[in-house]
Amino acid sequence: MSRPRKSAEDLRSHRWFGKDDLRSFGHRSRAKQSGFTAEDWAGKPVIAILNTWSDANPCHAHFRLRAEEVKRGIWQAGGFPLEMPVLSLGETFMKPSTMLYRNLLAMEAEEVLRSNPVDGAVLLGGCDKTVPALLMGATSMDLPALFVPAGPMLRGNWRGETLGSGSDVWKYWAERRAGALDECAWREMEDGIARSFGTCMTMGTASTMAAAAEALGMTLPGASSIPAADSGHPRLASASGRRIVEMVLEDLKPRAILTTEAFENAVTATMALGGSTNAIIHLIALAGRAGVRLDLDRFDALSRRTPFLANIRPSGKYLMEDFFYAGGLRGALARIPDLLHLECATVNGYTLGENLEGALVFDDDVIAPRARPIGPEGGVAVLRGNLAPNGAVIKHTACEQRFLRHAGPAVVFRNYGDLEARIDDPALPATPDSVLVLQDAGPLGAPGMPEWGMLPIPKKLLAQGVRDMVRISDARMSGTAYGACVLHVAPESFVGGPLAFVRDGDVIELDVPGRRLKLRVSDEELARRRAGFKPRQVDYPRGFGHLYARHVTQADLGCDFDFLEGTAAVVEPEIH
Ligand code: FES
Repeated sequence: MSRPRKSAEDLRSHRWFGKDDLRSFGHRSRAKQSGFTAEDWAGKPVIAILNTWSDANPCHAHFRLRAEEVKRGIWQAGGFPLEMPVLSLGETFMKPSTMLYRNLLAMEAEEVLRSNPVDGAVLLGGCDKTVPALLMGATSMDLPALFVPAGPMLRGNWRGETLGSGSDVWKYWAERRAGALDECAWREMEDGIARSFGTCMTMGTASTMAAAAEALGMTLPGASSIPAADSGHPRLASASGRRIVEMVLEDLKPRAILTTEAFENAVTATMALGGSTNAIIHLIALAGRAGVRLDLDRFDALSRRTPFLANIRPSGKYLMEDFFYAGGLRGALARIPDLLHLECATVNGYTLGENLEGALVFDDDVIAPRARPIGPEGGVAVLRGNLAPNGAVIKHTACEQRFLRHAGPAVVFRNYGDLEARIDDPALPATPDSVLVLQDAGPLGAPGMPEWGMLPIPKKLLAQGVRDMVRISDARMSGTAYGACVLHVAPESFVGGPLAFVRDGDVIELDVPGRRLKLRVSDEELARRRAGFKPRQVDYPRGFGHLYARHVTQADLGCDFDFLEGTAAVVEPEIH
């Protein structure tokens, strides 16, 4: 793709550095305060490196080094790098959920780019919400931007057995609760499950969103599959630094890349990988920033036509390191070219189709051939019915298949505290056929829509050998989690969605092939229960939570803030 190249005077940063006035004097003299000289910046694109490094985010522990490697590439290509730290959103430590803060990072990214002398940006993210947040902010700002995923960590290991982030924690925690695993083994796992820096190495939200970013065209080709500890990863970082300088000169911006077709590619990739349900919320929100309408029904339609190919936990057997050796995302996408819009532009200036040329798969057991997919359709189904008028989702590739059609009596928990207090009570009226329901866990109710959707199996049922049950909530679920968990029920119970009116013993019917979720309670009875509904106030008298509670949208709309959606032009700061 050939574009007219920008001159030095066309650069946005020229307004800060290039003029002969009082303010430009200040900008230049203060750049010199940092040890830079005019040779460093004069006439050069200024590239922000938005770095989500933090001691509180082990997935990004290598980002100080990677930022230096990005800088190396920027210097090589004739740019001027400026590293700018932004909110890290470490998934492991932040409570109640990083989802509460995704939009805060998106706002921060937008404002940091807006208010500084920046011509383009390299986005260093990876741990779950950092991917959508950085992309959302950069898309709203619409300066040339390129994403560098943190890369998955190495395989976990325990007594020679491979361990996957999250997925094996849930699995062995169930064994521990069932009394089948002693404390010594549990502690050994703690030592062996996270062996390097990098993101969760299952097909959790981080791996899914990195793949989605690549399928969208927002990373260099192959970027999403490279393990964080592989020497290819620093090479990716410096190549990204070199490329962003050219992107600025070509004026290649996110909204030129993030088209309707690009989003369809991202959804198709997500489905072929058996990716995280969280990707649905994030891609809807990101599409909203790009002016693209993407709804739940589109996800379902694309899921139905996309074969499930990636044999990676939690839906499959392997981990991201195996996926990389087997050919990675390029290999997987090369197996479904007819389902992709190959003409879509990407950050390296080539189309997706051109970037897939020559891609090979080296292990059919990890990336299944098209003729022998792991499943005939994608990993996620969208359900509707009187219990979820605006939709709910289930990752049906990661549950016991007997639950795809199931009806059972509800056991209702009013909130997570109630769940915690009663789930292991021997008197809990739960059988293997019961449907566990969690209320008040949505975007506003929790608040922040935490990953509580994989409700624990009651201890007494674990002891009977039960390892999966139908569970329904307005929460999310970790991308590394699994089970017959119906998630993102919308509208959420907190705002008076029908989930709020389920009572113990009500029969709930789940029909995944038919895409239905039904509460077998008459409309009249539901109306009676609705009449008695008393909404409560969100418990955020001040701070960011106060803003969040007033502006967050429901799960089916992406949980963005209503005032951040759309493509209204960002106002350039005045410089006086
Ligand atoms: Fe960071 Fe999973 S905790 S990616």
